[in-house]
Amino acid sequence: MNVAIIGAGNVGSALGRSWAKAGHSIIYGVRNPGGGKTQPPTFSGVSSRLIPDAARVGDVVVLATPWNAIPDVVGALGDMKGKTIIDCTNPLTLSPEGSLGLEIGSTSSGAEEIQKLLPTAHVVKAFNTYGWENFENSTYPGYGDLKPVMFLCSDDDDAKEMVAKLATDLGFEPIDTGGLGMARSLEPLALLWIRLAIREGRNPNFVWGVMRRAATAPAAG
Ligand SMILES: NC(=O)c1ccc[n+]([C@@H]2O[C@H](COP(=O)([O-])OP(=O)(O)OC[C@H]3O[C@@H](n4cnc5c(N)ncnc54)[C@H](OP(=O)(O)O)[C@@H]3O)[C@@H](O)[C@H]2O)c1
Repeated sequence: MNVAIIGAGNVGSALGRSWAKAGHSIIYGVRNPGGGKTQPPTFSGVSSRLIPDAARVGDVVVLATPWNAIPDVVGALGDMKGKTIIDCTNPLTLSPEGSLGLEIGSTSSGAEEIQKLLPTAHVVKAFNTYGWENFENSTYPGYGDLKPVMFLCSDDDDAKEMVAKLATDLGFEPIDTGGLGMARSLEPLALLWIRLAIREGRNPNFVWGVMRRAATAPAAG
């Protein structure tokens, strides 16, 4: 797959390196190829272009910029009709007292607001509930077949299937949580992850897993 990643910071770099290892072509979309504050990582086959040029060639376009950059970034993408957009962002806020929160929640989500800005694209919320370190290394030995999960949601089933494959390529078990409105649950889940990581001395080495027990038949009568 041609994966266009907008933003080459922590998340964009980690995802790009890992997807390249899985055989995908990575095209970074940045404000200033060759001169930005954050420089895309270098690895075989990677290229770096202006945002609209990267977005045009991507089979999928990954948004990995700060939330407050989204209006600029979306404005720069160009025509995204029918394109799968992965929204990794979280609409985080930091109060003057240093407390983390979400700018949007409960009645909408960052992902839904992005979908409103890109009405003809297929927005998928994913890769937002862990620190970037887990996108580089998702292995957690000692849990048997249990894999870290990657929760995702979208209103488009084909787009979800595409993103589920990209999650599988990085070692995650993709979990389809439903329509894009489920981002109202996935964005607070990112906040929970961040708060736990801070509480544990900023340790990023933990992930979400889902344990299932076979359903028992309801009692007769
Ligand atoms: N950090 C994590 O572990 C983590 C995990 C999951 C999700 N997220 C979410 O993912 C997003 C990215 O986080 P990050 O930690 O990767 O951020 P980061 O390291 O600060 O990188 C941000 C990237 O966005 C680019 N950017 C900033 N403003 C831009 C604009 N107006 N137009 C175009 N590009 C712009 C920056 O490029 P320049 O060099 O040009 O400034 C940089 O490449 C955030 O929304 C965050 O909430 C983060």
